[in-house]
Amino acid sequence: MSPSRIIDLLRHAQPETSAQAQGWVRTKREAKGIAFLELNDGSSLQNLQVVISQDLPEYEQVIKAIATGAAVKVAGKLVASPGKGQRIELSAESVEVFGTADPETYPLQKKRHSFEFLRTIAHLRPRTNTFGAVFRVRNACAYAIHQFFQERGFIWAHTPIITASDCEGAGEMFAVTGLNLDKLAQSSKPVDYSQDFFGKPTFLTVSGQLEAEIMAMAFSNVYTFGPTFRAENSNTSRHLAEFWMIEPEMAFCDLEGNADLAEDFLKYIFNFVLEKCPEDMTFFQERINDQVMANARKIIDQKFERITYTEAIRLLENSNKNFEFPVKWGLDLQSEHERYLAEEFFQKPTIVMDYPIGIKSFYMRVNDSDSQQTVRAMDILAPGIGEIIGGSQREERLDVLESRIKAMGLNPEDYWWYLDLRRYGSVPHAGFGLGFERLVQFITGMGNIRDVIPFPRSPLNADF
Ligand code: 4AD
Ligand code: MG
Repeated sequence: MSPSRIIDLLRHAQPETSAQAQGWVRTKREAKGIAFLELNDGSSLQNLQVVISQDLPEYEQVIKAIATGAAVKVAGKLVASPGKGQRIELSAESVEVFGTADPETYPLQKKRHSFEFLRTIAHLRPRTNTFGAVFRVRNACAYAIHQFFQERGFIWAHTPIITASDCEGAGEMFAVTGLNLDKLAQSSKPVDYSQDFFGKPTFLTVSGQLEAEIMAMAFSNVYTFGPTFRAENSNTSRHLAEFWMIEPEMAFCDLEGNADLAEDFLKYIFNFVLEKCPEDMTFFQERINDQVMANARKIIDQKFERITYTEAIRLLENSNKNFEFPVKWGLDLQSEHERYLAEEFFQKPTIVMDYPIGIKSFYMRVNDSDSQQTVRAMDILAPGIGEIIGGSQREERLDVLESRIKAMGLNPEDYWWYLDLRRYGSVPHAGFGLGFERLVQFITGMGNIRDVIPFPRSPLNADF
């Protein structure tokens, strides 16, 4: 017999049957010659109670070796549990201790640790209730995302991590030298890129969008799901230097079709997670943020609000709020503005469309209807988070795109392949990017984005 997952035992196993379980000890209690272990294997929030009686020949030795954090395997018989909140417990017939954990030094003792402290031990925090729940929900989100697109016939396109093009044109790219460490040590500074592996400056990608467009021009509907990097001020609760992004790209699609897909997509993920992770979601509602369920319902039950940027500015100007940052047509919306719209004014997810041309990227389609002052961009603002999705209809006209590239001070030669897509079989197309960690933050109610990714990259957190 092989060991079962603890969640399966707790849900389905019958008393008076044999079972094996393995995991890490959360707590150990001893009373009158009986020891009780709470065992967790990460399959759920719940622990399996293991009862070890003195009748076990190696009792003394085993109990001495076991402490919070130890890894053990237990074989025995399941019995109906007299304890509250659990159906069954495992009465041990044999116990194998794999790795002990010294209580003097093991940092995760039975008390509440702050998230700040747990960030300093990111190698151990997955063993806590909160991070167990976060990473299970993160996994469910990833599953939901693939399922959503696969059900609709989208092709998952793998786009490069190392790239020469700055998709967002914001100059927030990490440079990749391509030199190995020896060569780097020898090279005169600054790096001579002609000697470099790639022969020119390359960077970690900020977005897979441009390459997703290539794939969409052959497969019609595609999506990316991969890591992206931004060398921007990541010292906020919503920014990471390394984060994951999901970027669908659809040929034969306009901005309205793009917004429809994004809305269906978010609704689908939330429904999926509520169904697959009910215990974890209850935990977040009760222990982390009492708005979690209300926010989920806002996504699922309500039609998202849709307004233009120009309307958004008017609402903000008329709000009589004392915003820290100025509100003026032509300036970007700041987090406080986004939150006012989604949280206070509409109290539901809000899609803002048609932004001024001056604050958006070169690839967005120019609106002809308003003397070319705006582009077909959209941002989805979520209550409690602000921008969670950014997207647009893309400029499919060769001449307009070329002049936009030049106007932004970029070199059209660098984008020859991107322009080729407009030379050969160009078609209206659109797509968006969902920040995966912002999604997980929103679903779980976790306050800091560094607490929804297993290994956050920031100046303080880059050891592993
Ligand atoms: O709005 P952004 O910059 O859009 C793009 O990159 C487009 N190329 C997407 C597309 O149209 N295919 O980023 C998209 C989303 C944001 O809405 C936000 O959720 C997330 O990515 N994001 C970040 N998440 C964490 N840390 C950061 N530093 C982020 N920057 C953006
Ligand atoms: Mg954006």
